[in-house]
Amino acid sequence: MTSQIWGGRFSGGPSDIMESINASIDFDKRLAEQDIRGSRAHCSMLVAQGILSKDDGEAIINGLFKIEKEIRDGNFSFKRSLEDIHMNIEGRLSDLIGEPAGRLHTARSRNDQVATDFRLWVRAAIDALDEQLLGLQSSLIDKAEAHADTIMPGFTHLQAAQPVTFGHHLLAYVEMIGRDRGRFKDARTRLNESPLGAGALAGTSFPLDRARTAKDLDFDRPMANSLDAVSDRDFALEFLSCASILSVHLSRLAEELVIWASAQFGFVSFTDAFSTGSSMMPQKRNPDAAELLRGKVGRIIGAMNGLLIVVKGLPLSYSKDMQEDKEPVFDAFDTLELCLAAATGMIVDISVNKERMRNAAGAGYTTATDLADWLVREQEVTFRDSHHIAGQVVKLAEDKGCELEELSPEELSEIDERLTADVLAVVTVDASVNSRTSYGGTAPDNVRSQISAARARFLVKDGT
Ligand code: ARG
Repeated sequence: MTSQIWGGRFSGGPSDIMESINASIDFDKRLAEQDIRGSRAHCSMLVAQGILSKDDGEAIINGLFKIEKEIRDGNFSFKRSLEDIHMNIEGRLSDLIGEPAGRLHTARSRNDQVATDFRLWVRAAIDALDEQLLGLQSSLIDKAEAHADTIMPGFTHLQAAQPVTFGHHLLAYVEMIGRDRGRFKDARTRLNESPLGAGALAGTSFPLDRARTAKDLDFDRPMANSLDAVSDRDFALEFLSCASILSVHLSRLAEELVIWASAQFGFVSFTDAFSTGSSMMPQKRNPDAAELLRGKVGRIIGAMNGLLIVVKGLPLSYSKDMQEDKEPVFDAFDTLELCLAAATGMIVDISVNKERMRNAAGAGYTTATDLADWLVREQEVTFRDSHHIAGQVVKLAEDKGCELEELSPEELSEIDERLTADVLAVVTVDASVNSRTSYGGTAPDNVRSQISAARARFLVKDGT
């Protein structure tokens, strides 16, 4: 059977293979709600412009409401033979209301239709992710508050570097996620223009009111160029690149959780809710959720790369290759939704072994910088010289197998007479973190004020 929608010059139907490669309904049915919304806006505009009669318009709108309900209730039968969501809905409209259904597509093409639907979908996806990102920030901030003065080693090169507070460490992720939200918000602003009314590629001879449909669909304005409107997918690429950067952040957090939960570190542990066992080794408690969070980034970056490659060589305007735009975006969204739930769940779930963190914070002479800074501040030694002196102190402590604060005043003054007993008070981990009060620094009081600032800034809709 030839297609009712485009079969005028065809006498035979497509082969099964053609139907299989062509059909997108299995995945683009996720655009149903947006497609119906777009059709309603288009139909009302056609009536307002006198292009469609009021009666036909009413029949179409009522039919679309019925279809919307059928889909919501799971009573709609999606047909592969009808190729995609647009033709499935139009086909059903025709079953329901007959002839007027055929007038809905006046001055419209599936090319502007699908571009409109997809923009609406990505926009809603961004809004949903923003809510989840806010939730993750909120859990990170709560955890940071509980650990504003929990001391842990801060690392560079994964070598213990200087003591920091765990609250401060968690707030670093709150900042990263804040920028992720900002990136999605920027992408949303750019995508929020309406392709509807661009027609197949060249616009239309009908007296459309594109500003009206744009407004009806909460777009800021109609897209200015019909060729651009139907053929670019940069909004989907932007979504995927924001998603990729976000997933890299989540992956780094996940990697830290894996390290911290290891027996060797023992900084955090997960309850049974976020651990799995081993089928062979009874003692194991594995952080699988964190590992999967780290691993899922591959799919998301893969989705971005995949779509970049699809779009790369396409001449303007629409080509069917573009039908390949949706699955990567859907998959990246679903993956992120799950990853954000897992990340939030794990942050709430972890319990912190403060003692182990604190002991590790002092190991490896992490307060040597404090000693060097003290010489600069109190004895007016240049930093380059103080660095050298502090190095000698570390060497002595290492040789003796003791902590810096366990060295005697005599041993210190032997290295350099300017090293008086007062310096012993600044080389404890507490003194070290308490002294880091520069803006953005790790001192517990700073962390507490950063927490209230972060709450005010981020824990609101669109907070960035
Ligand atoms: N299912 C198609 C897509 O996703 C809709 C647009 C089809 N347009 C066309 N001229 N064949 O891209």
